[in-house]
Amino acid sequence: MCGIVGYIGKRDVAPLLLEGLQRLEYRGYDSAGIAIHAGGKATGLKMVKAKGRVRDLEAKVPARFKGTTGIAHTRWATHGAPSDENAHPHMSGDDKVAVVHNGIIDNASDLRAKLSADGVEFLSETDTEVLTHLVARAQADTLEEKVREALRHVEGTYGIAVLHADFDDRIVVARNGSPVVLGIGEKEMFVASDVAALVSHTRQVVTLDDGEMATIKADDYRTYTTEGSRTTASPTTVEWEAESYDMGGHDTYMHKEIFEQPDAVDRVLRGRIDDRFSTVHLGGLNLDAHDARRVRRVKILGCGTSYHAGMIGAQMIEELARIPADAEPASEFRYRNPVVDPDTLYIAVSQSGETYDVLAAVQELKRKGARVLGVVNVVGSAIAREADAGVYVHAGPEVCVVSTKCFTNTTVAFGLLALHLGRIRDLSVSDGKRIIAGLRKLPGQISEILKQEDEIKKIAKGYAEARSMLFIGRVRGYPVAREASLKLKEVSYIHAEAYPASELKHGPLALIEPALPTVAIVPDDDLLEKNRAALEEIKARSGKILAVAHQEQEKADQTIVVPKNEDELDPILMGIPLQLLAYHTALALGRDIDKPRNLAKSVTVE
Ligand code: M6R
Repeated sequence: MCGIVGYIGKRDVAPLLLEGLQRLEYRGYDSAGIAIHAGGKATGLKMVKAKGRVRDLEAKVPARFKGTTGIAHTRWATHGAPSDENAHPHMSGDDKVAVVHNGIIDNASDLRAKLSADGVEFLSETDTEVLTHLVARAQADTLEEKVREALRHVEGTYGIAVLHADFDDRIVVARNGSPVVLGIGEKEMFVASDVAALVSHTRQVVTLDDGEMATIKADDYRTYTTEGSRTTASPTTVEWEAESYDMGGHDTYMHKEIFEQPDAVDRVLRGRIDDRFSTVHLGGLNLDAHDARRVRRVKILGCGTSYHAGMIGAQMIEELARIPADAEPASEFRYRNPVVDPDTLYIAVSQSGETYDVLAAVQELKRKGARVLGVVNVVGSAIAREADAGVYVHAGPEVCVVSTKCFTNTTVAFGLLALHLGRIRDLSVSDGKRIIAGLRKLPGQISEILKQEDEIKKIAKGYAEARSMLFIGRVRGYPVAREASLKLKEVSYIHAEAYPASELKHGPLALIEPALPTVAIVPDDDLLEKNRAALEEIKARSGKILAVAHQEQEKADQTIVVPKNEDELDPILMGIPLQLLAYHTALALGRDIDKPRNLAKSVTVE
């Protein structure tokens, strides 16, 4: 969603900020803007804003837009439609204060009414502008105190960066529920809401905690709480390199990320397998054998694709560790006043580690005394920090809004966790060995699947005209069907619906006709014959079928054959050809593959 970039140093700031904004484009946005110190207190701040893409903003930046300190933003509309006026930064009437803000100020309308009654003139419909006026009107002497004074009035979430014409040696930032990262350079400092905007300049970062503020100067930074007490935030090194954010010769990030999966899966396995005891070591788990044996239930929470990965994870945990487990959308869980049970192990799943609904569910669980593990991709992200312990999925940066490699790596991480819990409980040594052998086969098997791209591309052309598609799977195949259906609708905008194959005759069979293609997940497991019966039922009603299976399916019009692994691990592989199906269908339809309409990479607001 929204993105923040800031810089203070000696370099020409506008090109640096525009480059940073381009690196944040993947998060999704509708407008952008930039404000700089034009040099000297007398000249004040200069600002340019534009609805549309960063390139539209770039086109509006005048040649004489020069300075060495500035802040910039990509906005995802919440309060007020996408427009030049509503784009950030928001500037005070005297051009002295500029603010960029991620998050939502909940009491913005009350504050706006009070400020308007005091004669403040508003130029936008945003909640952020309220904050700008509060900083501008604060009576304190220092910028830090002015920001602190303003923040005392606001309720809600924020990651902010503030520029003030009278304090041209600094940028003040604050975080509450929306990420802020400082990047430490050589006599220059950066700030951003996402390390993606920084890594081409520095990999030394400081991540602020909620309730923390920072002052950044060209050669120094200082962190403190919103109440003013000093904090010690030590820099860490970002493990992802700038090149991992490049397209690497592919036409889209989605394509690149699908093809990165063999390496990504290799990474999530690396250093974790323990052949001696037929188990795995998960360093960050913090769950000793005694604790693991006392777990009575596992509840997995995530949103979208991460929820689907959690559904697969729940089945693996139930099958391998024999602990009752289920997954639920975090967005639903947090609103239903759930019973929080001390013997339940809660697991929060998130690629970004910033999804607000997941974070809010974790915070609510912790407030009620629950133990929460994170299964997260982005190291140091809010959910990773909030969870008591966890497993990183090591997929590397995922730039495409549509998640692919991170889904796969998350399911593999769940395979590791299920094996770990299983071997502490009743999973035998031989079953442990069997699962380890299966896990080790995954990277090679994924490469085999990806070699079928040309055939899948041909198949996809046949589906580009479909108005709607049905995805079915049974037990292990059902979450695969759900995820494949989500992939197709997100990227191609074709309506798709996923159903358990066992439920066909309870309703969806009424939809079957030649114009509604069905994609069926048909693994070679103990439910093979039941799945074949579902194909018969569809065929009998002249439905067109594409099967994803371990062998050609006679009743299907086409079959994509995938390599067989262990039954429990098959779901990890069976969705991969359907990522390619979604990709090539969208390509045939000319869709904006990496940035589907209306979607953002990280949903950091409610
Ligand atoms: O970063 P997260 O995994 O927490 O994101 C959750 C969902 O917003 C995300 O998976 C979404 O469904 C993607 N667009 C899937 O492709």
